[in-house]
Amino acid sequence: MFSFLKTKPKLSELIPNNYVDIHSHILPGIDDGARTTEDSKFLMNAMIGFGFKKAIATPHTIKNVWDNSKQTIIDTKNELSSSLITESKLLNLECASEYFMDENFVKQFNNEKLLTLKDNYVLVEMSYLNEPIQLYDILFELQLQGYKPVLAHPERYSFFHANFSSYEKLKKAGCYFQMNLLSSVGYYGKEVAHTAEKLLSNNLIDFVGSDIHHKKHIASFENKLIIKATKKFEEAIDRNTFFN
Ligand SMILES: [Fe+2]
Repeated sequence: MFSFLKTKPKLSELIPNNYVDIHSHILPGIDDGARTTEDSKFLMNAMIGFGFKKAIATPHTIKNVWDNSKQTIIDTKNELSSSLITESKLLNLECASEYFMDENFVKQFNNEKLLTLKDNYVLVEMSYLNEPIQLYDILFELQLQGYKPVLAHPERYSFFHANFSSYEKLKKAGCYFQMNLLSSVGYYGKEVAHTAEKLLSNNLIDFVGSDIHHKKHIASFENKLIIKATKKFEEAIDRNTFFN
């Protein structure tokens, strides 16, 4: 009856102590996330403070923008782990990549093994401006190579907002959905929060990710949820233990 008096929880309060994060940009100097080892140290300590047990860093791989390779990512991760010994003991740091779906990506997965979150689960993203023309072909070929696409932050693709059936179509095409934790507090705006809420309510969200790049993201974990589907959100957070 007095439920309207209940205050919404802060995002930081919903992170369990065994949380496994599958999306972040905390490796220094190789994408638009952490720039220096000091930045990485700050972000890793904040993650530890929130209760993260493991973080799979996922630098962008986008041809001509962030020309990462398996080797640049693994080397950067290993260098970071050896310079931040204290943090590495408290946070199990691993690495994969957030692959941008375009023709270069197709060439790459046809020629070499991708960095995966676990087994054959691969984190993918697309442009925020428009759906790639070859989207369904790319997803099909990716799965032919044995991969399982985990689509990063589906709620952030505004060109899908007015056409919710696109999300069902993507699920049918084999995508797993990874919602961003910060979408729950309205970090990316009300429309994104609203879409995240709708995806959660329709049981379309499989996993979550922090997508942490910088300090402002960390500070926003202290904001209160603006979505109402708290239970479904917590269930999605718990499902991330799959990647442990
Ligand atoms: Fe990302």
